[in-house]
Amino acid sequence: MYLQRRNRITRKSDTIRSLVSETHLTPNDFIVPLFIDEGENIKTEITSMPGYYRNSLDVTEKEVKELWSMGLKSVLLFVKSKDELKDNTGKEAWNKDGLMQRSIRAIKAAVPEMYVMTDVALDPYSSYGHDGIVKDGQIVNDETVEALVKMSISHAEAGADMVAPSDMMDGRIGAIRKGLEENNFINVGIMSYSAKYASCFYGPFRDALDSAPGFGDKKTYQMDYSNRIEAVKETLMDVEEGADIVMVKPALSYLDIIRDVKNAVNVPVSAYNISGEYAMIKAAAAKGWINEDKAILEVLTSIKRAGADLIATYFAKDAVRLIS
Ligand code: PBG
Repeated sequence: MYLQRRNRITRKSDTIRSLVSETHLTPNDFIVPLFIDEGENIKTEITSMPGYYRNSLDVTEKEVKELWSMGLKSVLLFVKSKDELKDNTGKEAWNKDGLMQRSIRAIKAAVPEMYVMTDVALDPYSSYGHDGIVKDGQIVNDETVEALVKMSISHAEAGADMVAPSDMMDGRIGAIRKGLEENNFINVGIMSYSAKYASCFYGPFRDALDSAPGFGDKKTYQMDYSNRIEAVKETLMDVEEGADIVMVKPALSYLDIIRDVKNAVNVPVSAYNISGEYAMIKAAAAKGWINEDKAILEVLTSIKRAGADLIATYFAKDAVRLIS
């Protein structure tokens, strides 16, 4: 057989495959989500996220030092708020001595160079478990945005490098940017969850923070997974309003969206390899049905190949171990 082109030539050995390989993971690709709890010396495994923990602040400080020593340079903080601090205003979210604010200060003191990003949304503080303020059964937009601005400023005051609004209210990026400017936090960035879909894959995360919505679902603010063009619209608006980094979330069922967004914007794109995506790999691996390490590398590489410059993932430490 005479063939003008033989594509298998560049797949012949490890050597040539590595020479032509297009996508490489490095520790700089990852953002490490951390779940933080009150108390001391507490390390609680999250039932639906085996191998992932909610830690008290003293344990978190040690964890952050370890992350830094592995070359992991950014963390994304989530805190579990006590039930008695939850209400419909979410005011605990901007308490300057709240768990989030104490966590930011402690992490910055432990590892000053660690890039600290913080989740901005009301759900961990809401008695309804919604990302916004509830009135007559509706999640009200504009009052929620005012609360998110206060929350962002209080994170900046505590020393956060970047706030990450994950709520999907309209106009929040512009309002937060204005709030930061007016309060002279000119070096604090915004990583916007720009295209965040209403997804069943957030389930394990809501277990981790005990933050599942008390009524209804999040479909009036998070996006419909049937939609693609809308993701580009949302993201372009966030860039216009002042987002420094944009995000697509979840990642795995949304690789097309990551690519669309990557092609549309001129800011770094991140993707969130979320809790349900973690849980699926863990569960299948525990059954012996897939190889966990190989699955981690394949999934993370595919998210990067789709166009993500940064990946928030619960597999960050595993990935660094596997690529080094
Ligand atoms: C809440 C928030 C969620 C996640 C990050 N921030 C859950 C939700 O929107 O209900 C999900 C992260 C994950 O599943 O890993 N604002």
